[in-house]
Amino acid sequence: MAFSDNLVNTIHDKIILSEYIGRTVNLSKKGNDFIGLCPFHNEKTPSFTVSNDKGFFHCFGCGAHGDVISFVMQKESIDFKETIQILASEIGVNVNNYTYKDKKVHEEEANFRNIYELSKVYFYNNFKDKSANRVKNYLQNRKISIEASQYFELGYTQNNSDNLIRFLESKGYSTEKIIEAGLGRKSIKNDKYYDFFRNRLIFPIHNSRGEVVAFGGRSLDSTEPKYLNSPDTILFKKRKLIYNFHRAKKYVQKHKMPFIVVEGYMDVIALYHIGLYGAVAPLGTSLSEEQLLLLWKISDEPIICMDGDQAGYRSAIRTLNIAMKLLKPGKSLKFAFLENGDDPDNLVFKGKKQQLFDMIENAISMFNVFWDSEILNIDLNTPEKRAAFKINMEKKISLIDDKNVQKEYKKSFYTNYNNLFPNNYYNFKKYSFKTNNNEIDKLNAVRVKNNTSALLREKNLIEAILNNPGILKKVEEDFAILVFSNNEIETLRIALLNIYKKNGDITDMSISEIKNDSKYNFIIEEIFKPKDWATTRFIPEFVKKNDDLNYVVKCWKEAANLQKKWYKKENI
Ligand code: UTP
Ligand code: MN
Repeated sequence: MAFSDNLVNTIHDKIILSEYIGRTVNLSKKGNDFIGLCPFHNEKTPSFTVSNDKGFFHCFGCGAHGDVISFVMQKESIDFKETIQILASEIGVNVNNYTYKDKKVHEEEANFRNIYELSKVYFYNNFKDKSANRVKNYLQNRKISIEASQYFELGYTQNNSDNLIRFLESKGYSTEKIIEAGLGRKSIKNDKYYDFFRNRLIFPIHNSRGEVVAFGGRSLDSTEPKYLNSPDTILFKKRKLIYNFHRAKKYVQKHKMPFIVVEGYMDVIALYHIGLYGAVAPLGTSLSEEQLLLLWKISDEPIICMDGDQAGYRSAIRTLNIAMKLLKPGKSLKFAFLENGDDPDNLVFKGKKQQLFDMIENAISMFNVFWDSEILNIDLNTPEKRAAFKINMEKKISLIDDKNVQKEYKKSFYTNYNNLFPNNYYNFKKYSFKTNNNEIDKLNAVRVKNNTSALLREKNLIEAILNNPGILKKVEEDFAILVFSNNEIETLRIALLNIYKKNGDITDMSISEIKNDSKYNFIIEEIFKPKDWATTRFIPEFVKKNDDLNYVVKCWKEAANLQKKWYKKENI
């Protein structure tokens, strides 16, 4: 049986060389590469290097050299065929699904590559056309510099129906080929051919070797869809490619920077404007398995920075779930959560680049995001609920393929869990809460700072009331006995309680008075404006202004219960 290049590529894509070789050879990190004692000859000082990026190992001592396939062939002394079978089962693919790629397919691919390259230049040259003023204005309005536009090789298509088709035909390509390449369509109405991209700003999409294999196009008016991508072809598999990867990877390697994974083309370009050249975007909402493995070949902890809205948060959590299974020693993700519906593009547009730098600098570790997303607003008031929670968490953690990482996740989980519910928890029952400030002074700020979820919860609890003062009537008692460990947040609580006592109610009006009061406004500035790691948080729905006060009350009470428990255990 002959194996296709495709299968060999898949093996290269899915296996991280250092991870695979690292199972039998003790490797340590050196720059971008790994180094260890050569398994192919006897040596006392390491001269065996492994490069994930190049996909090669090389021994400076004995000259052994090759990719993962030749590694297995040499190490196990088996032939190519057997090796492919072993590696295919390692990555869980059926070799029978891969058929031999013949010369014709190679020619076909070369043809496609030419078509895309020609089209890229065509789109790019359209900028010189008179009609391009509109798109130039568009770029200006979005603050995209000429330099950026050239760096990303942006192009433009007129509104005419078949310019590109005619151009490609003049270069000798048949209409069928052009349609197959996803650059033209046939109208059902009149059987005429028309360009796939019309009246759009064009973003060339490259594979990791830097070859153009597809395009994205943003509409320049209100035509839907806002973004149009080339359909999948033999060269372009949306789930496998990452926008800007081929440029970003060079920068990431050279400067030892993490990748920053953002949602869209415009976000990548915005980050380029502020000097973050390592930005990439998946061509969908969350990262696929293949895209994640590609990033991990170059960088240990890519930073996921989605839009600061519900969809962005959900997409980040989806990425987290996909990554969970694939975690490997040293390979993880970090997360930066933007707020208020912001995306990197509009933050840069508004001149808030410092905010982005801070968010990225202080991105949250994968485990902490996992923990926070599971614990923050869950009701764990009864033993049954806690038992169910533990089973659920164990199940999630057991999805991690790598046994070492899985063990560490369990340990970290139980460390956090036991902090929340210590074994002698029931002895604490007799402890009663007080609202006086001396109590709070006993708490030391460092400890609070080290407890991400506690501080986040305190912020959520107070901010929910600032945004929905109407709920105070329903949570009055809980709010009165609640104790916050953060002094500033506690000050706000007392202020709110005092107004409530005085007026019997709290309105949006009294909230804006608090916000404008010089005694408190700096606190609100300090605490709620993103500034450090602790404030790079996802804001749950009940914290924001919400029409459904019953929902807010329910969530608020759950969070308050957790807060009471946490405070109890911290203060015995
Ligand atoms: P967004 O809608 O967040 O794009 O989609 P954006 O960058 O904020 O858009 P602007 O600022 O209005 O130009 C993010 C990404 O999702 C994909 C695209 O890859 C886009 O960059 N997308 C979005 C589509 O493929 N189709 C769509 O209709 C919308
Ligand atoms: Mn966006």
